[in-house]
Amino acid sequence: MSDKIVLTGIKPTGMPHLGNYIGALKPLIERSKQYKTFMFIADLHALNTIHDPKVIREHTYQAAAMMMALGVDLNNAVLFRQSDIVEIYQLNTVLMNVTPKGLMNRAHSYKAAMDKNIANGTDVDAGVNMGLYTYPILMTADILLYDSDIVPVGADQKQHVEFARDIAGYFNHTYGETFKLPEPVIGEDTGLIPGLDGRKMSKSYDNTIPLLAPEKELKKKVMRIITDSKTPEEPKDPDTSTIYQLYKHFATEAEVAEFAEMFRRGGMGYGTAKTMLFEKMNAVLAGPRAEYERLMANPAEIEAVLANGAERARSVAQATFGRVKKAMLG
Ligand code: TRP
Repeated sequence: MSDKIVLTGIKPTGMPHLGNYIGALKPLIERSKQYKTFMFIADLHALNTIHDPKVIREHTYQAAAMMMALGVDLNNAVLFRQSDIVEIYQLNTVLMNVTPKGLMNRAHSYKAAMDKNIANGTDVDAGVNMGLYTYPILMTADILLYDSDIVPVGADQKQHVEFARDIAGYFNHTYGETFKLPEPVIGEDTGLIPGLDGRKMSKSYDNTIPLLAPEKELKKKVMRIITDSKTPEEPKDPDTSTIYQLYKHFATEAEVAEFAEMFRRGGMGYGTAKTMLFEKMNAVLAGPRAEYERLMANPAEIEAVLANGAERARSVAQATFGRVKKAMLG
């Protein structure tokens, strides 16, 4: 096992879909077997959009239960809730003073909000709260607080990790070596994970398959995958088929090769192919789904895991923030 520290934050925004699972969660769980991993539910990061505490709490449980049900090794990985660690608020506050405002102006998420306002002819900052504007500072605090070496993120979050690196550099330059410089690791390309309509699976296209949906819903979704109008007899190209693209991630290599051959040979209709896909997915997901449902019915058990994680996370957070306070305030 490497002694590098991996850190990952999961924003509690509701049930992830299969694309999130294949692209992010699955590699994360694999990685947590090799590295000491801090894994937290980023509930403070949800505050800039979700203003209902019940929703935040529910989504936090969902995210935690999901990671537990998918088999994160809780001995190796420290699973906790971001808001449980007081040092995060403290570090966030002091980092403001070494963060150039111009850096925040360049953040993709803020720029996207501004561009939308400009396009709509409204004030550039309409609907932008300081939580959105300073989001990268809070994320920097997350990353630096746990002495992270490696931060695996999707391409959309890469800039934030680079900001964390920049801010750590400014800090070290001003106050002496205090922080490690984190490295973003962009997930190896799992290829495009297509959604029901063949476009990239994404909430914004409304074409997703929820990861741990009840069996009936999973089946219904799979059956709704859009195909071309080839007859069962006609040979088909697996590489352009959403069914095959998803199957690849749930079956063994031999099964995948066999499935591809059935496409090419002809004689297999899309209905049959979808049923096979559903069965493979369900075989992989049925166990985690049952465990997820069990946990969601027992929030006290989730709380206990998060409390244990918070305790372990805090001992690192306290040490880091102690260094920061001494460096900045003497
Ligand atoms: N901003 C990330 C997202 O939207 C979640 C996150 C918060 C995070 N803090 C982090 C990810 C620290 C990695 C490291 O997905």
